[in-house]
Amino acid sequence: MTDPTPGTALDPLALEDATTLPTYAKPPLALVRGENATVWDHTGRELLDLYGGHCVALLGHSPPRVVEAIRQQAGELLFYSNAVYSPVRAEASARLVDLAPEGLNRVFWCNSGTEANEAALKLARAVTGKSGVIAMKGAFHGRTVGALAATWGDSYHAPYRAILPQTHFVPFGWEGAVAEALESGDVAAVILEPIQSMAGMTEAPAAYYQALRQLCDAHGTMLIFDEVQTGVGRTGAFSYSEHVGVTPDLITLAKSLGAGVPVGATLVSDAIAKTVKTGDQGTTFGGGMLAMAAVRATLDQLVEDSLMPRALALESAFRDALTSVDNVVDIRGRGCLLGIELDRPARPVAVALRDEHGIFVGTSGHAPTLRLMPPLTTPMDAAGRLADALGEVLRAG
Ligand SMILES: Cc1ncc(COP(=O)(O)O)c(C=O)c1O
Repeated sequence: MTDPTPGTALDPLALEDATTLPTYAKPPLALVRGENATVWDHTGRELLDLYGGHCVALLGHSPPRVVEAIRQQAGELLFYSNAVYSPVRAEASARLVDLAPEGLNRVFWCNSGTEANEAALKLARAVTGKSGVIAMKGAFHGRTVGALAATWGDSYHAPYRAILPQTHFVPFGWEGAVAEALESGDVAAVILEPIQSMAGMTEAPAAYYQALRQLCDAHGTMLIFDEVQTGVGRTGAFSYSEHVGVTPDLITLAKSLGAGVPVGATLVSDAIAKTVKTGDQGTTFGGGMLAMAAVRATLDQLVEDSLMPRALALESAFRDALTSVDNVVDIRGRGCLLGIELDRPARPVAVALRDEHGIFVGTSGHAPTLRLMPPLTTPMDAAGRLADALGEVLRAG
């Protein structure tokens, strides 16, 4: 590495910029510490993190129970692959399957959301013998080839079009378009985020998801819910599917699942699981002990501390506080996955909240919509703090 300013000490921002690919737009702060919904940067500045560590910090930052579990596991056996059995993997799998919707009794462990979707799409193709995929306009499913093909947007696809499998994109929330696309007869899977997060926290009525279930059944097509954001209790139920009374064939999880430790999972229906043989799918690191210790501790805390009802209580607190803010046009989403639509572009508002009020929120692909993905353990008074700050920023703008 070449020091861009020889003779001077590099600050962490300059050092990172000089040594990593410039693929991310980062705010000018380096985080060094976190506790529950609070993070501190390298200058000692404190922020309320309603972006939730990119929708990962389900239990807050450095949650003591998970930290202790991975400390202990690291000292016992840091890693071994699926070449062997592992008690902690067995227990994490049992906990997950227990919380999953009935009929999804098997899990494939991996390391990220895109890998979980990759596995789901492969399994859907293998079990149906079909190759086509229907995905939603506005969708984000990840950046590996299979998941990328189901992600909406030229900016993601342009250089790779030649190697991406064709995907049929339809508008989210309109079952008629899915019905039409299924007529080709070669559709292995319909994949969707039940709440489209990057697209601006869009949700459809329950009847839509129910219609997709019926259509997939009628066409021998697998229904995949990408619950990388909605899963693990964030919307007030373990899986979004419980809210709408639909059991998908496959559910993918990541982000919150390890409360900060990288892990992904594909939950698979019994019918699909029966068709899978040794060697059909694999990964070295998926199901490693450190990640499994994190998952086991995360799921235990989620249940024992009644955090799913708490996600709904936080939603009510945010809705109550934010509805009184002029210039908030709409509040969408569920639990701790909320979109706040403003009457103006959200990005400058997010910057002002961060820089002037010490509150970290997300934006989305829908320009006027802010995204909140706070820990389920966020203090209730965070809602009032956000509403006061947002009101001030909007009045000033
Ligand atoms: C809904 C959804 N699916 C899949 C992914 C990809 O997950 P990862 O970045 O862990 O590969 C993301 C990431 O933001 C996501 O939001």
